[in-house]
Amino acid sequence: ATRLLTPQLLKDQVVVVTAGGTTEPLDPVRFIGNRSSGKMGYAVAQVAAMLGAKVILISTRPELAVPAQLERVIYVQTAAELQGAVQAVYDQANIVVMAAAVADFKPVQYAPQKIKKQVNQTDFQLNLTKNPDILAALGQQKTTQFLVGFAAETNDLLSNAQVKLAAKQVDLLVANDVSQTDRGFNADDNEVTLLWADGTTEKLPLTTKVTIATQILTRIAQVQK
Ligand code: CTP
Ligand code: CA
Repeated sequence: ATRLLTPQLLKDQVVVVTAGGTTEPLDPVRFIGNRSSGKMGYAVAQVAAMLGAKVILISTRPELAVPAQLERVIYVQTAAELQGAVQAVYDQANIVVMAAAVADFKPVQYAPQKIKKQVNQTDFQLNLTKNPDILAALGQQKTTQFLVGFAAETNDLLSNAQVKLAAKQVDLLVANDVSQTDRGFNADDNEVTLLWADGTTEKLPLTTKVTIATQILTRIAQVQK
């Protein structure tokens, strides 16, 4: 019903959204993860579908309810799996929103059996190796796609975000202050600043993630015309 009342601003546009935090397994019972809930990405997927888009959601969160009218949902766990999934659909995408929190590092080795502690052992060194920057790779391969990145920062939000906007060659960077628990990670609300490739910035007031998703997608639909 909502769909019928919503202007179809993204009619037939293919929108790819990544959501949630990747996990990097260490052994069969342990992994390295982060606090991303997936809520911001799911809000973007939900609103894009309401605006008439064909939404491909790439998610690390099978426990979340799938929004109505999605074209496809692909579940992944690791950064490598997420990269494979997003690369496979990049050619057909009109808009790509990288809301996922991708692990920057993963264990150098996966132990196929549970790692045991020794009786006399007092500490444990874990060697990590860098994951590829998925968004930066998409930025380099970009042809006609409109590419959206997120930046999670606890400090120096705008200057850090400005660097990411340029380095990853995105069209829009959504800068997210994750230092407060009532917004950002895991919260239903968020307060973000939009940084556009042309240098303009806009701070959106604290509101629900669904409202933020609506504002972001409405603005993208306008500039894409
Ligand atoms: N990202 C990605 N691949 C990575 C790391 C991040 O695609 N290996 C994407 C995220 O999905 C997000 C954007 O890059 O859209 C920014 O992520 P963020 O963690 O804020 O920035 P990083 O570049 O990883 O820098 P840092 O964590 O050091 O601040
Ligand atoms: Ca990071």
